[in-house]
Amino acid sequence: MSDYQTLHNASISDKSSFWLEAAGQIHWYQPPSKVLDDSNPPFYRWFPDGKTNACYNAVDLHVETARAEQTAIIYDSPITQSASKLSYRELQHRVRQVAGMLTDSGITIGDRVIIYMPMVPETVIAMLACARIGAIHSVVFGGFAANELAVRIDDCTPKAILAASCGIEPGRVVEYKPLLDAAIDSATHKPDNCFILQRKEASASMIDGRDHDWVAAEAKAQPADCVELDANHPLYILYTSGTTGQPKGVVRDTAGGIVSLKWTMKNIYGVEPGDVYWAASDVGWVVGHSYIVYAPLFHGNTTVLYEGKPVGTPDPGAFWRVISEHNVKVLFTAPTAFRAIKKDDPAGDYLNKYDTSCLSALFLAGERCDPDTLSWAENNLNVPVIDHWWQTETGSSICANYLGIETLPIKPGSPTKAAPGYDLHVLNPQGEPCAAGEIGALAAKSPLPPGTFSTLWNAPERYVSSYFETFPGYYETGDAGYIDEDGYVFVMARTDDVINVAGHRLSTGAMEEVLAAHPDVAECAVMGAADALKGQIPVGLLVLNSGCKRSHDSVCAEVVQRVRDEIGPVAAFKKATVVTRLPKTRSGKILRATMRAIADGDDWKMPATIDDPAILDEITDSLKQIGYPGSA
Ligand code: COA
Ligand code: AMP
Repeated sequence: MSDYQTLHNASISDKSSFWLEAAGQIHWYQPPSKVLDDSNPPFYRWFPDGKTNACYNAVDLHVETARAEQTAIIYDSPITQSASKLSYRELQHRVRQVAGMLTDSGITIGDRVIIYMPMVPETVIAMLACARIGAIHSVVFGGFAANELAVRIDDCTPKAILAASCGIEPGRVVEYKPLLDAAIDSATHKPDNCFILQRKEASASMIDGRDHDWVAAEAKAQPADCVELDANHPLYILYTSGTTGQPKGVVRDTAGGIVSLKWTMKNIYGVEPGDVYWAASDVGWVVGHSYIVYAPLFHGNTTVLYEGKPVGTPDPGAFWRVISEHNVKVLFTAPTAFRAIKKDDPAGDYLNKYDTSCLSALFLAGERCDPDTLSWAENNLNVPVIDHWWQTETGSSICANYLGIETLPIKPGSPTKAAPGYDLHVLNPQGEPCAAGEIGALAAKSPLPPGTFSTLWNAPERYVSSYFETFPGYYETGDAGYIDEDGYVFVMARTDDVINVAGHRLSTGAMEEVLAAHPDVAECAVMGAADALKGQIPVGLLVLNSGCKRSHDSVCAEVVQRVRDEIGPVAAFKKATVVTRLPKTRSGKILRATMRAIADGDDWKMPATIDDPAILDEITDSLKQIGYPGSA
């Protein structure tokens, strides 16, 4: 099979053979005798009777097959001005110790462990240590506030939490321990143990009996070995934004995750074992799980763990330095990172300071890649710039280009064509197929390929209702777009209340819940307005309680602070304005799309169903006062 189309056709017409061949590339304690259990749709199970272990495939396998001295992880931290490397052998040693630290504290197969950590090697070690003993990890991004952490603690009820004393952001140290303590205080569930990595930038105060010094506990632990796990044992839970304040706990199973990620490294990214691969993301997001940690390690690559920003650490040449210093072959990041670099260095002058000839491709994902950013990257880097589309739910790309198979011509604005196993369609609201070029809901025929989410933690009924009910027999991606006559997919917008802020997926519904809880707010709406740097940023419209005499500015400042405190700084919620009413349809639905069009300066039509057309003049004025339409 050498061309994309033949391969894609085979993945749809004979799934079993296709994925069985891919499964042959990984280590099994017991190979599966059956490829797919489709007896309980939409809960499909891949490789149901196989036995394997993700940590074994990521670490031990390479130690045993001549990669022991190869660098597994390059830690590059301009923010702390430090760097270090771990070989596969050293990684195995640390992971065995940390796995032992967990087993010594009573953690066993199926127990949950929350990891609330910055971008340090111990975070990767902790994830692998959980995978080693069959504990289910749930990494919580460091930019989330205590309340978000508490919600996750109550949902997945971890036996232990692994945290660092702090994360470091430009210009400030973010102390994690007070956030962790506050989260545990407010959660109903209490973990038995917390292991705290003390970083020199902040010292965490410890609670006797519950908190343990990580380094000491790791040093005295009895090393633990990999356990044989059922193929469908959950590898991890990763929470992502849905339309409400209750995040969705996406569950990834063990074997599907290994098989699919291993397959992508050669076939999508075009890398060979031993190559240096860098996903400039954060381990708290799905890109970090899949492409900082698991996929490159499954494939025997060297992965780069970068604790810094694209700009300001110390300058817009940061990415080029890392590429040239570490011989990076493939870089994967979000378009927003490139917009930040382009803004600070429009002519690409910093590129001239470094030799980046080792780079063979740049991959972008996380949000729509605007053609300007694409062409700036292409012109400056002189390598293929590949936009690919994926979601926390899928764990790897739904659409991509296939450098290891056939590099398809790039169409700006399109993440190219469906990945193997994705039978993608564009459907109208009645569930009928749209014509080529016609916009509709992007949906994939069930079953989804291996590595996609097997359920939502604690919420199997939400798994069905959120994704599989609107279009029976299909997975509803939540994205709208079209497929052109050549089969290229164009992803245009979300169909729900999820927005993408600097490549981070956030729920406007969750922010509305915070705003609505303010004592002076009677009603509110949050929408994503276009932003030149971050793609979108949230903007809040508030209707105050009648009789509220407080200044609008102070209420707006308070709701901004509340979102920061309750969701986290990563929400980038900085703009709110007060209006007398929200525009609604006669049936009471808030007209968010119209407000968004006004904020973005797009053409818009007066909705036929609006209850009070005059209110849109006031909305236009209010948005103008906070800078909309802006320059995005
Ligand atoms: N811990 C604590 N706070 C964090 C954090 C973390 N891990 N990550 C971000 N934050 C904070 C930031 O300090 C900032 O706080 P502020 O409001 O006090 O300035 C806020 O959250 C927003 O952060 P960020 O989204 O990083 O915006 P920025 O303006 O600091 O930087 C970019 C803009 C474009 C440089 C940055 O967003 C970026 O590098 N994006 C890449 C995105 C990415 O990797 N996405 C993953 C999907 S592939
Ligand atoms: P997340 O689950 O955080 O990875 O966010 C997934 C969402 O990000 C998708 O549903 C899309 O809305 C958006 N997204 C990710 N990659 C792309 C892309 N290449 N093009 C357009 N949108 C994207």
